[in-house]
Amino acid sequence: CGIVGYIGNKRAYPVLIKGLSRLEYRGYDSAGVALLADSEHLNIYKRKGKVQDLVDFIGENNTQGNIGIGHTRWATHGEPNDVNAHPHFSSDGNIALVHNGIIENYAILKKELINRGHIFKSETDTEVLIHLIEEIQHNTHTSLEEAVRLALNEVVGAYAIVILSKNEPDKLIAAKKSSPLVIGLGENEYYIASDATPIVEYTKNVVYLEDEQIAIINKDHGFRIINIANKEVNPYVQELEMQLEALEKGGYEHFMLKEIYEQPRAIHDSFRGRLNAKEGWVSLGGVKPYIKEIANADRIVIIACGTSWHAALVAEYYFEDLARIPVEVEYASEFRYRNPIIRKGDVVIAISQSGETADTLAALKMAKENGAFLFGIVNVVGSSISRITDSGSYTHAGPEIGVASTKAFTTQVTLLAMMAMMLGKERNTIAPKRFQKLLDEMEALPDKIETLLESNDYIETIAAQYKDATNALYLGRGTAFPIALEGALKLKEISYIHAEGYPAAEMKHGPIALIDENMPVFVIATEGENYEKVVSNIQEVKARKGKIIAIVTKGDTEVKAIADHTISIPSTDEVLVPILATIPFQLLSYHIAVMRGCNVDQPRNLAKSVTVE
Ligand code: G6P
Repeated sequence: CGIVGYIGNKRAYPVLIKGLSRLEYRGYDSAGVALLADSEHLNIYKRKGKVQDLVDFIGENNTQGNIGIGHTRWATHGEPNDVNAHPHFSSDGNIALVHNGIIENYAILKKELINRGHIFKSETDTEVLIHLIEEIQHNTHTSLEEAVRLALNEVVGAYAIVILSKNEPDKLIAAKKSSPLVIGLGENEYYIASDATPIVEYTKNVVYLEDEQIAIINKDHGFRIINIANKEVNPYVQELEMQLEALEKGGYEHFMLKEIYEQPRAIHDSFRGRLNAKEGWVSLGGVKPYIKEIANADRIVIIACGTSWHAALVAEYYFEDLARIPVEVEYASEFRYRNPIIRKGDVVIAISQSGETADTLAALKMAKENGAFLFGIVNVVGSSISRITDSGSYTHAGPEIGVASTKAFTTQVTLLAMMAMMLGKERNTIAPKRFQKLLDEMEALPDKIETLLESNDYIETIAAQYKDATNALYLGRGTAFPIALEGALKLKEISYIHAEGYPAAEMKHGPIALIDENMPVFVIATEGENYEKVVSNIQEVKARKGKIIAIVTKGDTEVKAIADHTISIPSTDEVLVPILATIPFQLLSYHIAVMRGCNVDQPRNLAKSVTVE
């Protein structure tokens, strides 16, 4: 979910709506705002649907007020409808609250509150918080911030909240634990949001709230921070580096297409200043001081979710092949609930675009308790994962807004390749010639991607032929296997076609039963060690009348002769093939989704930043 808040001299409503649109990628099944005009007027509007549906619903209604909060939801407890939408409000209608996260002990708290006479309107876990706060204030006549603090001491779980009250119409209270919250400091005005994207157009000065901190923001007296034990905390003000243009579509029809096209630049930003082919070196600032520690790790455990998990699978080949370090790749959500064996001497790498994924964050905390060294590969600067790891490197892809990850993935893979090269050099496990070739090829990547993007129109014509498919299979071997998984994920995420990724050799153990003349099979058949084996797999598909769409290296003739369609990528070192091979799959999925009339940037049921477990 995404939350926003504003307090200052402007009208809050337009600021909130714009902020919610910027945060919509975090969830978009319902939205709402609460606007405080004065101690008499608190207007709350909420609606199932997108932010635009909320705006249409509000229409000409009263939206006055210089203080307000807003929410765009990704449902956890309670289906998306008008009642379950945020803000939630107290029985007397005086206090309103927005929440991102999950209150884990809500069932118990709710039962107790009902026994004490509270009447609940929604099915959400959030509503218990507002009843708790209302009850505390009612019983003790304490300030809003004190009531919030006491209430938060009773809840177990994750929260980022913003609260306002008619009874104290000059303040906003914000608090966080596990879910992110940023405060933007303007001139006599404050912005609050789940991430910096709604804030950057107003101010570059921000404070990231830490876990269990509560900010009390007063219109006339500024802001202060306490923790839930009621200790005063010194705020740490940081400067944002984000550019506003990065948050706009810039002439493209969708963010996803823009982000696909940004990849040459994003990858360049990712390695800029970190390697030099002429001088023959690669160096990541986050790795350098710990190079001995990481290079001598007993093993590397990589944890991630979703697309980032696919980058981890590619990295497994990199670290094993180039640096000869044993690697395990884990879904963060599985790892943390499995009583895993983590020891001192293990290096745990977390990969995350947002740096906020709740499962990844929790897995890291667990690894930390067991003495592992934590390294983060994160895109969003200042995010939670970047702050709790011992060291790390940013991917520098720039903000990614499309829910389906594209440039975040290819920059993760770029960074992981650089890290493996550094470790290989340190451990003497990479031949100097290979090392140099990789440096050269890395520097050549942006241009090669530009060339590849020229095939976009051709790829669109292929997409047109498979847009009505109901199933699809993606095959690859070696580092191309995770790319098959990623290709399948991209297609199912945005076009809702069922798709599966498989190691090409495993096809014969099951998926081959699915193949008939209606089954498109996307295969990565680029030059290299596995080429002939993959060609055999293609033959097996053809023998059963499946349709083959193959990604091949420029100049290929063998696969061209048997496949229904081929898409060529420029030749490069095998290590970097995953980066190039993934791009045609991104474009194919994009065009198929557009042709099927799907909402490419905001696919149904998904959210970009999953801050619940
Ligand atoms: C969500 C997004 C995916 C993303 C995954 C992990 O499911 O929709 O695109 O890969 O979370 O997110 P992270 O920010 O940790 O990379």
